[in-house]
Amino acid sequence: ERLSLWGGRFAGGPAEAMARLSKSTHFDWRLAGYDIAGSKAHARVLHRAGLLDEEELAGMLSALDELLADVESGAFTAAESDEDVHSALERGLLERAGAQLGGKLRAGRSRNDQIATMGRMYIRDAARRLAGGLLEIVTALRDQAEAHFGAPMPGRTHLQHAQPVLLSHHLLAHAWPLLRDIERLRDLDARAGVSAYGSGALAGSSLGLDPQAVAEELGFASSVENSIDGTASRDVFAEFLFVTAMIGVDLSRLSEEVILWATKEFGFVVLDDAYSTGSSIMPQKKNPDIAELARGKAGRIIGDLTGLLATLKGIPLAYNRDLQEDKEPVFDAVDSLDLLLPAFSGMIATLRFDTERMAKLAPEGFALATDLAEWLVRRGVPFREAHELSGAAVKLAESRGQELWDLSDEDYAGLSEQFTAEVREVLTTLGSIDSRSARGGTARQAVRAQLEELATAMSRA
Ligand code: ARG
Repeated sequence: ERLSLWGGRFAGGPAEAMARLSKSTHFDWRLAGYDIAGSKAHARVLHRAGLLDEEELAGMLSALDELLADVESGAFTAAESDEDVHSALERGLLERAGAQLGGKLRAGRSRNDQIATMGRMYIRDAARRLAGGLLEIVTALRDQAEAHFGAPMPGRTHLQHAQPVLLSHHLLAHAWPLLRDIERLRDLDARAGVSAYGSGALAGSSLGLDPQAVAEELGFASSVENSIDGTASRDVFAEFLFVTAMIGVDLSRLSEEVILWATKEFGFVVLDDAYSTGSSIMPQKKNPDIAELARGKAGRIIGDLTGLLATLKGIPLAYNRDLQEDKEPVFDAVDSLDLLLPAFSGMIATLRFDTERMAKLAPEGFALATDLAEWLVRRGVPFREAHELSGAAVKLAESRGQELWDLSDEDYAGLSEQFTAEVREVLTTLGSIDSRSARGGTARQAVRAQLEELATAMSRA
């Protein structure tokens, strides 16, 4: 005979196809520990409301502990006939506590408030774990920035040489967004810290149960203000998926650069053997697969987010079964990042930079033209005119296949009387870099200060 949660008004069990469609144990099983924690908290409020006596509470709690141990050891697993993690665990409880006692636990709660609460618990744990993994990546970037402090590289816009920058400055430009992602995880952790237990199916419970007591036992700050909202909303799930998608995108942007930097044409980095792959046919190959998988997974996680948003957009209040589709995208994003983050931090930590090559290329492609123009401005030339004159110097150098520093004093004087011999002072990479010394700029002094700001921000993360 099929054990189901709703025998009473049904003439028979579900059709095979119905049961197969309905089933979620193959993905919601990972919530079993949270479900049992919720059941223990629920048993205590039933006891406090006088619905379980002292002995019944003790029996219930020990049966639930036994069930948890069996879930963890693998002795208890979902059966073919179980619809979801909640129904499977109720079966397990009945087997351990007996139908008389076990049958009392379901009073005053519903799978609707259970699942809304379990999902939040899962998200909060995942958010904390992912924040730890991200901090490792930020640390790897910070360490590389420290190790190469003072080394210049070509700064780009439109992927074209723009102005020289410090490699440290560039690396930290990837660290800050990741730190903001950590902050986002912390923010949503707090927003997810609200228990839906006590909402029942949608309207609350008539049994005098205390939602705040359950909330506190499960590590939540409070219970939901509104039982309908508590069981029907998944905005925190969507917010979590946005943050995971943003993490994917931020890692993907860095990945794209690592991939480019590792090409022969750029030649900026060499990947460590342990964090790259070879080719089955081409013996010379060393491929940046971690960066490519990061770029690929970003697309997939964006899909998880958009999929959930699309699921949510047309659902009337309160619980609808569509909401069962909230879990797989969340799990997929978490699993993807759990795999990715450690590999990614290892890749960054072991990158070897060719700082000589980067320094040589830094000023090339007329990357000092802005310095030339700003030098004129400091001598009182209107920027509009300075831009023109500096552009003329670029044009002259380019026509001869030269760089700006190859032009002679006479060449400069011929372009304008404003170009005196002292102009050479600014035609060096470090001169250009160190002149940008205001907060946030690429000067060594500013980047040193930035590293300190980052250390402070990391200690708070
Ligand atoms: N397994 C469902 C879910 O994941 C929870 C059960 C609620 N089902 C129901 N028919 N009310 O959303």
